[in-house]
Amino acid sequence: MAQRAAIVTGASSGIGLAIARVLGEEGYALTLAARRPEKLAAAAEELRGAGYDVHDVAGPLSEEDQVKAVVEAHRERHGRLDVLVNNAGVGIGAPVAEIQAKRLDMQLDVNLRAIVLFYRECVGMLRAAGAEHRGALVVNTSSISGKSGQPWLSVYSATKAGVIAYTQAMNKELSADGVKSCALCPAFVDTPMTEFAKAGGVAAEDMIRVEDVAESVRMLLRLSPACIVPEIVFERPGEIL
Ligand SMILES: NC(=O)c1ccc[n+]([C@@H]2O[C@H](COP(=O)([O-])OP(=O)(O)OC[C@H]3O[C@@H](n4cnc5c(N)ncnc54)[C@H](OP(=O)(O)O)[C@@H]3O)[C@@H](O)[C@H]2O)c1
Repeated sequence: MAQRAAIVTGASSGIGLAIARVLGEEGYALTLAARRPEKLAAAAEELRGAGYDVHDVAGPLSEEDQVKAVVEAHRERHGRLDVLVNNAGVGIGAPVAEIQAKRLDMQLDVNLRAIVLFYRECVGMLRAAGAEHRGALVVNTSSISGKSGQPWLSVYSATKAGVIAYTQAMNKELSADGVKSCALCPAFVDTPMTEFAKAGGVAAEDMIRVEDVAESVRMLLRLSPACIVPEIVFERPGEIL
């Protein structure tokens, strides 16, 4: 059995893949989850090539059964969970008059509902890790738009604000058991999700790097049990909240 184990959702590209890499470097056995099987398998293969213990479970995390399947696969393989990274997310822009219920539901389901379900399914293993070393950690990828709602990304912003509130609630509910939670709140990060912004004139090199966000997770891993960092905001020069 691995000494430390983690689940990372949305691990097939961007921020999630960078966080998975950091966790691999730090010696964590990994279960990776994302929607599209081939893309996730390629990411898992890349990490295995770097020498990490990686298992991948693909499928839509908008489905409760898929969340359960990811956690069950992880439990069977490792029997413990020290770090949970709830990072899968989807953003679909629309002016308020044009919001489609299907897209509204998709963003709520992936960005917020899946996080609640992952906590529910994982809390037993997280509490066990917390009892062992007081440093079980849940990292939830929110967004700077969760700190200050954005026009045309109103639904996305609302889901990400929900992630921050849920993270706060989980710290109040679970931190005494050695389970800490942190919401990451980045501005534009250079990932596939921000292709629309690059097309709109924001240069990739002016965006936050996925490694910047992932390094913050390494910092969280190193905190003493006495210290909780409930959220980390990543801003860009000239674009301060
Ligand atoms: N990039 C930014 O500027 C930025 C800023 C703030 C916050 N964020 C947040 O950061 C997180 C990661 O995004 P990213 O920027 O790294 O973009 P990304 O590279 O597109 O990653 C998104 C990840 O989420 C997965 N995902 C999406 N829908 C899913 C579903 N229904 N079921 C399971 N997995 C699903 C994707 O898998 P598939 O590709 O297979 O769908 C992919 O692995 C998201 O929560 C996003 O909201 C991003």
